Amino acid sequence: MKYGHFDDLNKEYVITNYETPLPWINYLGSDSFFTLLSNTAGGYSFYKDAKLRRITRYRYNNLPLDQDGFHIYIKDKKTIWNPGWQPTRTKLDSYECHHGLGYSTITGSKNKIEVKQELFVPKNDNILLMRVTVKNNDKQKRELDLFSFIEFCLWDAQDDTTNFQRNYSTGEVEVVGSSIYHKTEYRERRNHYAVFFANKKVDSFDTSRDKFMGVYGSPAEPQAVKNGKCANSIAHGWQPVGAHHFHLDLNANESFDVIFGLAYVEVPFDKKFVKPNVINKEPAKQLISKYNTNKKFDEGLNNLKSFWNNLLSGFEVSTSNDKVNRMVNIWNAYQCMVTFNMSRSASYYESGIGRGMGFRDSCQDLLGFVHMIPERARERILDIAATQKEDGGAYHQYQPLTKKGNSDIGGGFNDDPLWLIACVDAYIRETGDWNILKVKVDFDNNHDVADTLLEHLRRSFNYTLNNLGPHRLPLIGRADWNDCLNLNCFSKYPGESFQITGPSEGPVAESVFIAGMFVKYGKAYANILEHLGLNEEAAASRKAVADMEKAVLKDGWDGEWFLRAYDAKGQRVGSKANDEGQIYIEPQGMCVMAGIGVESGEAQKALDSVKKRLETKYGIVILNPAYTSYRLNLGEISSYPPGYKENAGIFCHNNPWVVFAETVMGHGNRAFDLYKKTCPAFLEDISEIHRTEPYVYCQMVAGKDAPTFGEGKNSWLTGTAAWTFTVLTQGILGVQPDYDGLRIDPCIPASVKEYKINRLYRGTMYHITVSNPKGSQKGVKKILVDGKEVPLGVIPASRKKEVNVEIIM
Ligand code: BGC
Ligand code: NOJ
Repeated sequence: MKYGHFDDLNKEYVITNYETPLPWINYLGSDSFFTLLSNTAGGYSFYKDAKLRRITRYRYNNLPLDQDGFHIYIKDKKTIWNPGWQPTRTKLDSYECHHGLGYSTITGSKNKIEVKQELFVPKNDNILLMRVTVKNNDKQKRELDLFSFIEFCLWDAQDDTTNFQRNYSTGEVEVVGSSIYHKTEYRERRNHYAVFFANKKVDSFDTSRDKFMGVYGSPAEPQAVKNGKCANSIAHGWQPVGAHHFHLDLNANESFDVIFGLAYVEVPFDKKFVKPNVINKEPAKQLISKYNTNKKFDEGLNNLKSFWNNLLSGFEVSTSNDKVNRMVNIWNAYQCMVTFNMSRSASYYESGIGRGMGFRDSCQDLLGFVHMIPERARERILDIAATQKEDGGAYHQYQPLTKKGNSDIGGGFNDDPLWLIACVDAYIRETGDWNILKVKVDFDNNHDVADTLLEHLRRSFNYTLNNLGPHRLPLIGRADWNDCLNLNCFSKYPGESFQITGPSEGPVAESVFIAGMFVKYGKAYANILEHLGLNEEAAASRKAVADMEKAVLKDGWDGEWFLRAYDAKGQRVGSKANDEGQIYIEPQGMCVMAGIGVESGEAQKALDSVKKRLETKYGIVILNPAYTSYRLNLGEISSYPPGYKENAGIFCHNNPWVVFAETVMGHGNRAFDLYKKTCPAFLEDISEIHRTEPYVYCQMVAGKDAPTFGEGKNSWLTGTAAWTFTVLTQGILGVQPDYDGLRIDPCIPASVKEYKINRLYRGTMYHITVSNPKGSQKGVKKILVDGKEVPLGVIPASRKKEVNVEIIM
């Protein structure tokens, strides 16, 4: 069942049924000011950091669901309704929500009154804009009341939901005309406030939630809305809010519109006040004046649209499959940008007060956005690398505000360092910016021990070699990519961390997955060294990689698939010798991607085993059989009920590894079949089962052992975005940035006859046509560049503005 449809021309998803299986959200903002917005106008805003600068409140596990947001109320005689349906849930006569790139429009109508809410955050300003247009479609005059409503958060989102004895006394506001200023804590150490304004004169307003809602009121039935007017209340403590009221008399076919704005404003410390306790509103007024007319609003919105069109125009495909086109050209790329902005901080499943930036997460996200924003990717790499420890290890997370490694969680996740090689390699292939390797970067944010980025890569590489276990396979430490496979932790008591309890690292437990990574990214590292002319070191690195390959085939092979690990007692994990958890996806994908066993046959066997033992109609489960009881030697993985999360859920993140692996083997049909299984655009028709947004990936889909098989969770902020974008564009469609140019090596279904791609690469627009007259799945026979045949292999980077490339398979 569908709840809407894609509008590819306008790059929108149009929701036509407001009762979506879960709130379907969008992200507004791409610089510093962000808003999460659901299809019923739920959500919240923050400035830069969703924990420390939360502007409006959001209650995550509230009932009813998704009640806090940016709601507009209409009072029409006795009927009270919202154009986005929530929170009154008054049945609408018509409804549409258009989620576009950085903007959303929600339109609802009831009894011949149509209300449209257009929301976006303009480029480079800290403000959420919302234009509301009310149209009387009746033949007669109508009298109505319109209300806006938001609830301010007292800045620190964590404190706001816990420290009531203080916070119920600190709230302060000022009101001037139609502008409501939220200035809690501004009297003391803060130099920022928020303002919620309207560009027309209000008939009444409220800033006290008790007055607007009623002390025992509910968002479904606010007291002020029932009364038909606000109380002009000034909040003193308790819950400061912002509500505007307009009384409307609309003739037949007449419209009324008003622009609201919610802004975050900083004031220099010495200019905070104009009079005792009267805040300096000048900077707010200046910002408001940039957006207080329809013309300025429209310009802001058009600028935003051009920004996105321009950003996405660097990679456009045209294939015979609309779903593929819309993933590459619009939604997958968009999601990659959202992971760039948010990391794993704020979504409808990440509360904004939890994790900082993950080391491995950020490195992998980069694979999906480096081609769109190479300069910011460069900055991100240098930030991440600066948190690396001197021994090459990594803090598992760092804080976006301080950019420092988080010592509460610490390090010892032994895959982390290798992801730095992965992202630097991707960055160089994309940009050709070899100079980045010469940049001096701190270790552990300590400038005294700074060294070149190349040295950072060297330490990453050596970190694995310095931490080998009894089978000469990498020690796993606290965990590898699978945060929940905790082989050294032994967490026994409720509430104890699964990852940092007990010894947490140890000299025995080894990871075959990290071994696969070491082979894959170790080769990349050796390539880089060779390119720099460091041939001896490159040869030594290749030797270490070859040794690792041997170790995997000797002690990391289980007979029909790659073993997952050895636990702290040296027992096999992910082996036919186990009662449960006999085979895991991660080493199959990673080892074959790395090329291990491709020649000697293990790779094919491993992929056959994936098909036989892990594949389902909704994708590949992470392991099988699911663990049915808690295992002290394995940790969090066995804490989940069978079929969920890391215990045999379909982890969307590593499905593309297997897709990549299939392309390594030249299996285009198979690669695309697997790709489709987790791809949201292909799941639109089963939205009632899948439940999360059909335009973005979620982290996890319940596996075959779960009672809710096929149900998605944790949409938006997942490394899946980057990996699926990469596997589709590079693995399947075959456009692979290489050190000195583009390599085009498709691996496609035999039925694909032709497709075209526009790809901006190092300043040159490549117009690529791939034709497949013989119905192959892989193998390029001929390459023409601007009409001239060139040797097979990498097409050297060009200096021209545009280049035409024809690929014949
Ligand atoms: C989740 C993992 C996640 C980890 C992060 C676990 O509870 O299942 O997916 O990586 O927490 O700390
Ligand atoms: C989510 C985490 O963000 C990521 O770092 C981890 O690899 C996966 N979960 C798997 O556990």
